[in-house]
Amino acid sequence: MGKATDYSSKKQEWEQEAETTAKRFPERKEHFQTSSDIPIERLHLPEHATDDYLTKLGFPGQYPYTRGIQPTMYRSRYWTMRQYAGFGSAKETNQRFRYLLEQGQTGLSVAFDLPTQIGYDSDDLMAEGEVGKVGVAIDSLKDMELLFDNIPLDKVSTSMTINAPASVLLCMYIAVGEKQGISADKLTGTIQNDILKEYIARGTYIYPPKPSMRLITNIFEYCQRQLPRFNTISISGYHIREAGSTAVQEIAFTLANGIAYVEAALASGLDIDTFAPRLAFFFNAHNQFFEEVAKFRAARRIWARTMKERYKAKNPKSWKLRFHTQTGGSTLTAQQADNNIVRVTLQALSAIMGGTQSLHTNSKDEALSLPTEESARIALRTQQILANESGAADTVDPLGGSYYVEYLTDEIETRAMEYIEKIDQLGGAVQAVEDGYMQREIHHAAYETQKKIEADEEIIVGLNQFVQEEEAQPELMKVDEQLEADQIRSLHEVRNGRDQELVNQCLANLKKAAADEKVNLMPYILEAVRAYTTVGEICNVLREQFGEYTGI
Ligand code: 3HC
Repeated sequence: MGKATDYSSKKQEWEQEAETTAKRFPERKEHFQTSSDIPIERLHLPEHATDDYLTKLGFPGQYPYTRGIQPTMYRSRYWTMRQYAGFGSAKETNQRFRYLLEQGQTGLSVAFDLPTQIGYDSDDLMAEGEVGKVGVAIDSLKDMELLFDNIPLDKVSTSMTINAPASVLLCMYIAVGEKQGISADKLTGTIQNDILKEYIARGTYIYPPKPSMRLITNIFEYCQRQLPRFNTISISGYHIREAGSTAVQEIAFTLANGIAYVEAALASGLDIDTFAPRLAFFFNAHNQFFEEVAKFRAARRIWARTMKERYKAKNPKSWKLRFHTQTGGSTLTAQQADNNIVRVTLQALSAIMGGTQSLHTNSKDEALSLPTEESARIALRTQQILANESGAADTVDPLGGSYYVEYLTDEIETRAMEYIEKIDQLGGAVQAVEDGYMQREIHHAAYETQKKIEADEEIIVGLNQFVQEEEAQPELMKVDEQLEADQIRSLHEVRNGRDQELVNQCLANLKKAAADEKVNLMPYILEAVRAYTTVGEICNVLREQFGEYTGI
């Protein structure tokens, strides 16, 4: 018999045997599917994997980058271990930063409190009760100097999770570099600067879409001239997933937002191959291990093809999707919190097998509060064990070629492309956001998932099965209630000690510049922060000019 006939007869034989077994030992579900409702076959076979290696997979470090963006990946350099951290005052967060760096983390990631993220000073009525709560309180350059005290900015890359006031905090970072004697062109890091996902899922927006896109492309333009090593945006799917999207929707909506930023940058006159290499991405890692690995691989291939074929980018650096991953906060349970260490380990492993460039591992207690020092350390140790003890970093794309993973990679790519084409038909991501399209899709997916959990069709250990009635409450991190008063006092000291005339002049210059949408506002904001003008003062001048977005 020919090989093919032999294969198909063996396959038939197996199918019969499997059916017989399944009659005696029924499978636990009638249909198996992923979080994105992709059917999961009983067994995946060669016909599920790709038959065109060079077009579909390619070699790592080569187009379309399905197997990774670097030829040697983690054999040369581990992913950056970059723990999101920030609470209370700049001094307290600086201590946590230095602790994590001493414990071996290799990149910084700043969590700002909500007043900072929404452009209010700590003494603004809108800030009451939120100062230093979910992140560090930053009012002026003084706070940023304290935040990076004894941390040389030319020796570390820093991510800043800041969106609407991104231009202000980036200018403060540049000014801290100047104080440390480090020129802007030496600074490395990332500014999140992704307003579309704020409208869709996260909510820390201030201005309407048009002026927000102007501020974003101002940063693109300014950085390509002054901060060539800084990533100008972290186009985020993390929060879209946390809002309840499926894995397919996570990459589809994120990449659609990426396309909108590319379109906005091109419309502002920037050249694709000068700004595109500094676009970066940020994804989530949830519990379905294989789907997550395939999701990252599919995202890389979609972005590479989009940039090379749709936008005719010529520079291979424009084709490479570089991303950070944070393990899925919403998958953590308040019940039996130690179980979360296992969830985070699996999720982190999926990001590593998926080729992430940078990784944050959640702490076991994050469903309950900000992480304690101990739980933050365990989260970092999780990455260090995966890097040094699991073997996962010893070969490139270890799951490549798996019939199942290649099948999922293809399926996710196909389904994500359907969404991207639909959003194109709606007029692009900005229009789709204003129409509420992505939000409706996410809310529907979230509702379907919640129904499965409540019907016990989706098991969450400790929550709807293997429940423990009584359990000891773990020790939790507390933010000092006195902090708000202390922060307001130090803010007033800054205001009283600065050259108010100069501040007024800077704000007047900014107001005038903001009125002309052709003007890049970064130099005006930099001048203002150098004079210790505050986040709130700068954002309020722009509120006057741009108005505030009232949401969908
Ligand atoms: N071979 C050759 N070169 C390699 C290599 C290899 N194997 N591995 C790395 N390199 C090089 C890279 O090319 C790069 O050099 P370049 O800058 O000259 O190109 C350098 O080494 C550093 O590597 P990466 O750029 O890959 O790693 P980084 O960590 O510096 O950057 C990133 C990763 C994804 C591009 C960047 O955007 C980043 O760090 N993002 C982090 C974003 C983040 O932390 N976000 C947190 C948000 S928290 C949040 O929003 C959630 C909250 O709301 C709950």
